[in-house]
Amino acid sequence: MELQNKRSFLHRCARSGDLVHAGLVITLLIGVWYAQALEVNTGKVHFIEVMNGSSVLLPCTYASCIGIQNLYFNWQFKDNGTLVKLCEAIIPAEGIEPNVKIHHERVEFVGSSKQSNISILLHNVTFEDQGQYICFARNPKEKDRNHSAVFTLYVVDELKEVDNTLTIIIVSVLGGVIGLIILIMVVKAVVLAILNKVQEKKVPCELFRE
Ligand SMILES: *[C@@H]1O[C@H](CO)[C@@H](O)[C@H](O)[C@H]1NC(C)=O
Ligand SMILES: *[C@@H]1O[C@H](CO)[C@@H](O)[C@H](O)[C@H]1NC(C)=O
Ligand SMILES: *[C@@H]1O[C@H](CO)[C@@H](O)[C@H](O)[C@H]1NC(C)=O
Ligand SMILES: *[C@@H]1O[C@H](CO)[C@@H](O)[C@H](O)[C@H]1NC(C)=O
Ligand SMILES: *[C@@H]1O[C@H](CO)[C@@H](O)[C@H](O)[C@H]1NC(C)=O
Repeated sequence: MELQNKRSFLHRCARSGDLVHAGLVITLLIGVWYAQALEVNTGKVHFIEVMNGSSVLLPCTYASCIGIQNLYFNWQFKDNGTLVKLCEAIIPAEGIEPNVKIHHERVEFVGSSKQSNISILLHNVTFEDQGQYICFARNPKEKDRNHSAVFTLYVVDELKEVDNTLTIIIVSVLGGVIGLIILIMVVKAVVLAILNKVQEKKVPCELFRE
């Protein structure tokens, strides 16, 4: 009787172990499923500051573990609340370059499907170009879920270097103060050494006098 109880106990343990395993497998599967979802990314920096009149790269890349098929993407500019489409295209399959429709005279597509890169260049930037740029992508392979990443552009008259001069001033002042302290210490040491020598010489003289 006792042995049987023990066995059934062990059996139950094994069963709960199986449950744990099943749970693990399900968690892993869900994790993999999430990892397979398409991702669009504007990189580590989500904003850039450029001078008016220059050209700027608006970066965007995509990644998908299950692969892409007829991936639709576009770039939009949030102009005073309304979205303006700058360009759009469909990438038929991985590695196949898209035929990009451009809706803006100063936008140039510079991406490459080989690098999953859908970046654009904006030429001759004006102050009106300041704002949010949205890189949007949709992969029909994953039930047409929408993905997007936002990149913010700031347009400035000239790149500020006030912070730099302040840093230079602080460093110079600090350097000067440290230099002065070192100089004072060196002078003090030299003077003390000279005084010591003078006193050493003086002692015999005074001895002679007495
Ligand atoms: C940038 O804007 C300033 C002020 O409007 C203007 O003086 C300057 O010529 C512009 N620079 C370029 C490169 O367009
Ligand atoms: C933004 O749009 C609103 C309403 O459409 C308008 O009154 C406002 O002048 C616009 N602002 C700019 C900077 O264009
Ligand atoms: C940018 O400006 C320069 C000089 O004004 C002009 O020659 C060039 O065609 C412009 N580029 C674009 C893409 O508009
Ligand atoms: C995307 O392509 C552009 C133009 O070739 C390049 O400057 C940029 O570094 C690329 N971005 C990535 C993340 O590879
Ligand atoms: C995806 O975006 C499109 C507009 O481009 C919109 O019509 C659609 O409802 C969105 N779908 C989801 C699931 O958000």
